[in-house]
Amino acid sequence: MILVTGMSGYIGSHTAVALLKAGKDIVGFDNFYNSSFEAVKAVESLSGRSFPFYEADLRDIDSMERIFKEHNIDAVVHFAGLKAVGESVAKPLFYYENNICGTVNLLKLMEKYGVMRFVFSSSATVYGEPKSVPINEDFPLSTTNPYGSTKLYIEGILKDMCKANKEFSVALLRYFNPIGAHESGLIGENPNGIPNNLMPRICQTAKGIMKSLTVFGDDYPTPDGTGVRDYIHVCDLADGHIAALDKIEKDTGVHIYNLGTGKGYSVYDLIHTFARVNGVEVPYTVCPRRPGDVPEMYSDPSKAKAELGWEARLGLEDMCRSSWSFIKDK
Ligand code: NAD
Ligand code: UFG
Repeated sequence: MILVTGMSGYIGSHTAVALLKAGKDIVGFDNFYNSSFEAVKAVESLSGRSFPFYEADLRDIDSMERIFKEHNIDAVVHFAGLKAVGESVAKPLFYYENNICGTVNLLKLMEKYGVMRFVFSSSATVYGEPKSVPINEDFPLSTTNPYGSTKLYIEGILKDMCKANKEFSVALLRYFNPIGAHESGLIGENPNGIPNNLMPRICQTAKGIMKSLTVFGDDYPTPDGTGVRDYIHVCDLADGHIAALDKIEKDTGVHIYNLGTGKGYSVYDLIHTFARVNGVEVPYTVCPRRPGDVPEMYSDPSKAKAELGWEARLGLEDMCRSSWSFIKDK
């Protein structure tokens, strides 16, 4: 049985569908801070399978312990966490307590119940401001905000756990920029309030909720002057977790992988592809650069291909089409 934390969230719900379709048994939990029970129902209907689900909180160890008592858990896939960079700067303790203390609580329960396998949602943010691209897993690590620090600290905690217990096995998955949605349109990303990330902002502009998209700088040293990122379809990302679970079942210790496509697309690439494939307008205005943004970030995903046999399949058009079909009528 695989425990999926943060299961009703954006990446958790897509991964739950992939795990169930691959024949794995799962139990999920979430505190619904950034999601709702609707996603749990959608996962059941998309996979055609039912599974146990709990409302529980990483910060409340008793709420999680019920799950460990009632199920024979072999591995944990840990998505639960807070992820808004700006909010983490304003409320660092909220982030440190939720993400770091919460993960320590989860690890204590794993130790108590003898669960030895852990897949962690890390982020390309741990590369800080990379000196060059493509970025491989051996690049130096640093952070520029409390959210990034929580990812880096948790990576360190998990490395220490593997040193202390030779039976423990961990996959640190460093996601690049996940976008897109399940082809059914039943699950996807629907952030509360005004989103910070590019794809949700493009969607809000196309819907008319935002009058015009703000392009943060067109004077970067990139082919068209706008920022370049490695956008990856959330369904490809979900499959990466299945490959990582297989790997840590075979090999103990720490295994670190970039999950990206290896391709960089600019802000203009995203805007124009989105407008074209969906037949919508995305008006935009060029503004000054956003503080803290790097010009260009994309992965070298070759380690995941060589060791996990995993690589991204879906292209930018699929990402743009599926994002829109999920959100357009919401
Ligand atoms: P999400 O907010 O959609 O999902 C996270 C889920 O965790 C939410 O459903 C939320 O309610 C839940 N949660 C938060 N705190 C909790 C707590 N204390 N107890 C129980 N549940 C809690 O975010 P996502 O995009 O699906 O991200 C999943 C993971 O991947 C996160 O750890 C995030 O930091 C990481 N990540 C995301 C991205 C991205 O761009 N989406 C990039 C890199 C890494
Ligand atoms: N951008 C705009 N206008 C917007 C929003 C974004 O031009 O309204 C640009 C940014 O300047 C950047 C690109 O679009 O060049 C992507 O920005 P996002 O905010 O979508 O993503 P980031 O790469 O800045 O950051 C995201 C997550 C981080 C994570 C990082 C790497 O927000 O938490 O990906 O995984 F660390």
